[in-house]
Amino acid sequence: MVSGETDNERERSESGRELDFAPRRVKWDETVRLIREFAGVKATDRVLDIACGEGILAFEVARHCAYLAGVDISESMVALASERAIEAGAQNVSFQVGDAVNLQFADDTFDRVFCRLGIHHFPHPAEAIGEMVRTLKSPGYLIVADIVSSEDPAWREAHNRIERARDPSHHEMLSPRQVRAILNEAGLSLEAESHWQTRRRFSDWMRIVNADRQTTERTRKLLQEAAKKKSTDLDIATQGNNIEFTHRWMACRALKLN
Ligand SMILES: C[S@@+](CC[C@H](N)C(=O)[O-])C[C@H]1O[C@@H](n2cnc3c(N)ncnc32)[C@H](O)[C@@H]1O
Repeated sequence: MVSGETDNERERSESGRELDFAPRRVKWDETVRLIREFAGVKATDRVLDIACGEGILAFEVARHCAYLAGVDISESMVALASERAIEAGAQNVSFQVGDAVNLQFADDTFDRVFCRLGIHHFPHPAEAIGEMVRTLKSPGYLIVADIVSSEDPAWREAHNRIERARDPSHHEMLSPRQVRAILNEAGLSLEAESHWQTRRRFSDWMRIVNADRQTTERTRKLLQEAAKKKSTDLDIATQGNNIEFTHRWMACRALKLN
């Protein structure tokens, strides 16, 4: 159960929405398949993947849809994704450089728009969601999947401080309620949510961002302090220099109707 969500869950269950609120522990590598299944991708779908990175989710989804366009602000990520597409002989994908808040696509173009692990990088998440919604057909689905933080502002700030120490491109991890509010304000109808957790080992987590020694030690110190003070909901376990903690994920499938 995600802390602080009990009343909200009950409320939503009563409104008859499809729910999966008991967060399962899943392996990191399983998350893309989970998100693709949750999205209900159809073979005829034209799909957009925002902040696609090197295309980890994009290639998973592209195997199940008609066409997929990936957009990322980083030229090197787009080059990597494009190389992978050529290597894999993927004919139904194309990748381009672009900013989530200014997409070069016409209104009502896509059946599904995805954004995995993008929202927490955006300084203006509501604007980015607005752009994604603009490019969606009606009916069409926005699927947002990201790591979320606590509903408690102090815990959330402590958590975001740790994430920023590790990766300066991290802007802000939102809480589940904040994500729901942005989707509602964008005029979408939240059709389903899924919650799960991934357990992370500190050394693996730092390796992903190629952290130098100074960054590694600063981040380690913040995690150790947070463990002592119990100032986050990361379930931090420390043993010497080994640290493990939990990332809480939330995926939302939201419908555009007009
Ligand atoms: C953690 S990676 C996620 C990549 C991919 N979605 C995945 O799930 O593997 C975050 C990506 O967001 C991209 N990004 C950050 N700000 C962006 C923006 N304003 N517009 C588009 N992409 C952005 C980064 O370049 C990076 O590739």
